[in-house]
Amino acid sequence: MKQAWPPVLTAAILLLILPGAQAQKKTIPQRVDSVLRLMTLEEKIGQMNQYNGDWEATGPITKEGDKQDQIRKGLVGSMLNVTGVEHTRQLQEIAMTSRLKIPLLFGQDIIHGYRTTFPIPLAEAASWDLPAIQQSARIAATESAAAGVHWTFAPMVDIARDPRWGRVMEGAGEDPYLGSCIARARVLGFQGKGLGDTTAIMACAKHFAAYGAAIGGRDYNSVDMSLRTLWEIYLPPFKAAEEAGAATFMNSFNDLNGIPATGNAYLQREVLKGKWGFKGFVVSDWGSVGEMIAHGYVKDHYEAALAAVTAGCDMDMESRSYITQLAALVKAGKISMTLIDDAVRRILTKKFELGLFDDPFRFSNARRAAQQWNNADNLRTEQAMAEKSIVLLRNDHQLLPLKKGGTIALIGPLIKSVRDNLGFWSYEWPDDSDRIISPWAGIQRKAGDSTKLLYARGCDLTDTSRDGFAEAVETARQADVVIMNVGEKPDMSGEAKSRSNIHLPGVQEELIKAVMAKGKPVVLLISAGRPLVFGWTADHAPAILYTWWLGTEAGNAMADVLFGEYNPSGKLPMSFPRSEGQIPIYYNHFSTGRPAKDDQDVNYVSAYTDLPNDPRFPFGFGLSYTTFSYSDLILSAPSFRPGGKLTVTVTLTNTGSYDGQETAQLYIRDMVGSVVRPVRELKGFQQVYLKAGESKKLSFSITVDDLRFYNDRLQHIFEPGDFRVYVGGNPRELKEAAFTLDR
Ligand code: NOJ
Repeated sequence: MKQAWPPVLTAAILLLILPGAQAQKKTIPQRVDSVLRLMTLEEKIGQMNQYNGDWEATGPITKEGDKQDQIRKGLVGSMLNVTGVEHTRQLQEIAMTSRLKIPLLFGQDIIHGYRTTFPIPLAEAASWDLPAIQQSARIAATESAAAGVHWTFAPMVDIARDPRWGRVMEGAGEDPYLGSCIARARVLGFQGKGLGDTTAIMACAKHFAAYGAAIGGRDYNSVDMSLRTLWEIYLPPFKAAEEAGAATFMNSFNDLNGIPATGNAYLQREVLKGKWGFKGFVVSDWGSVGEMIAHGYVKDHYEAALAAVTAGCDMDMESRSYITQLAALVKAGKISMTLIDDAVRRILTKKFELGLFDDPFRFSNARRAAQQWNNADNLRTEQAMAEKSIVLLRNDHQLLPLKKGGTIALIGPLIKSVRDNLGFWSYEWPDDSDRIISPWAGIQRKAGDSTKLLYARGCDLTDTSRDGFAEAVETARQADVVIMNVGEKPDMSGEAKSRSNIHLPGVQEELIKAVMAKGKPVVLLISAGRPLVFGWTADHAPAILYTWWLGTEAGNAMADVLFGEYNPSGKLPMSFPRSEGQIPIYYNHFSTGRPAKDDQDVNYVSAYTDLPNDPRFPFGFGLSYTTFSYSDLILSAPSFRPGGKLTVTVTLTNTGSYDGQETAQLYIRDMVGSVVRPVRELKGFQQVYLKAGESKKLSFSITVDDLRFYNDRLQHIFEPGDFRVYVGGNPRELKEAAFTLDR
């Protein structure tokens, strides 16, 4: 039956929906309130309901064909996985037939690019280049916004100390300081000039909180940690994202100390919305409201919706708990209208800020989308980002950079692969393969006609067959130098891609051994979404470039680094273990009461009897074709007082024969604390480009804020006493000095 609206109400609605002069004069909070006043309880709950679109906007959106009907009734606030000018427009048109014409929000996992695939976030983190990371997010936002996307479920700012966890590929690694800098850069990149600009999409800091500490590195698993560790290690990047203005947060699948994050009032109400004053809204992770039943935290969807809304989760992604239960909960007096209004207000505010009430179609723009499709500037920026992301782990006898000419054998399961370098969160577009640069294509292009290239696959990524070894070995024999590309497939690191064995999969390491036995110089490109274990190879391959998954221009970036057109500058954002047995492994650990002094004497000290304690490649490590030396580490004073500052200067010299970029890192150690302190904590870094032979004086400052930590009562304090400061570009060769913080 058609509902007849009183004329006064119709006029009020029109005033809101149409961008009339009067509506424009109102502030956003006023406009939000006037919409809110018109809404029924069901429509309010609809705003808190998000559905998946499975990419199909026409016809029934998913197998559950009721979704379009619900949009029509105003019972859906947001859709995810609906992109493209046409699809978003079609769905928005349906929303415009609803009673109040409240526009839909379209969310999407724009994790490392949309049309142009950028390096995976962990790779970008290896660049330590904040402006470049921000620009990468900017381009991802511009490309996706033009295709109708309003909101990305990124950045993932989870600290990760366990490379078995497949989602390490999506974050910035293990360090809270670097992680915070990168969280900020990504939020600023996605949100650009601010919501309302049609190239800005809403960022979503996820997964709140502590998802990266899933026990055993198994995805979706429980997390159990002290609140001190939570505050000191896992929360800082979230805080940084919030301070940078992240419009939204996503809670997480894990339980934290026994309480599912989705129903965790401490995290969402007390910390995020309370202490931090977050004004945006919180979305659940996919189905995580309903999953509290499987957690054993609630009995059914009724209790799940109650727990989640009470805890501060404003929008339910796909679990249908809110849409089916909230009305009954409100009517039963279990959830107050104030709580519902607060959630809806937060969501509507973002829709207003995005300008969707003024023009619900402003992001679905065919002209802008066309400009962003195969945009040459974006591809160039992607290649530069990829080059900065590569980490040189070994380069014996300066095997790299390679000279052009002679014969090069290109061997390995990934050397000709086209899609594998795109990584887990990338999109398959129909005309992709012509534009993605495989390692083979990039090297061929760069090496030029004077270089003869040979090819052998050797083996597949995961298989156990050694049938291709003989051909690979024979191919290597005919070459002057061998380049091998080994690693993981994109579906081996990502969501639900935890692995207990993180060695190079299949028989790849055997292939490397067989090829190396020919005695030819071998350069390895290791493409992967996580730190892998490649023990023998790490110790014997003369040159190793860790190339992660580098995106659309991967092959060009690899070739530029191989032939010296880009001097590698990446530094590891995560420790690379020697074996899985060392995990979790991270540089900012405590000393223990029995610290191991060296690897030889392991008697009754905190050590393994069969393995050194330290990682194979430490956090912060990465070589260059040139060498850098640090000298004259000088402190402005032996001590300073709260309110003052200490200046640390050091001279950095490019002592090699190539121009290059160095990332100078500054760490501190608090020697004695009322709770024990890590052996090192990163507190600053600077990137400096120096010509061969050039020197530069660098200066860092330290204030009490750099010396703060959370005590056992979770107060963020500093304590007078002795500290050490360390500076360098290789964590195993840091220069150090001592200072005191006076009372
Ligand atoms: C589940 C993932 O954990 C989350 O990160 C992602 O944004 C959602 N699925 C939506 O795809």
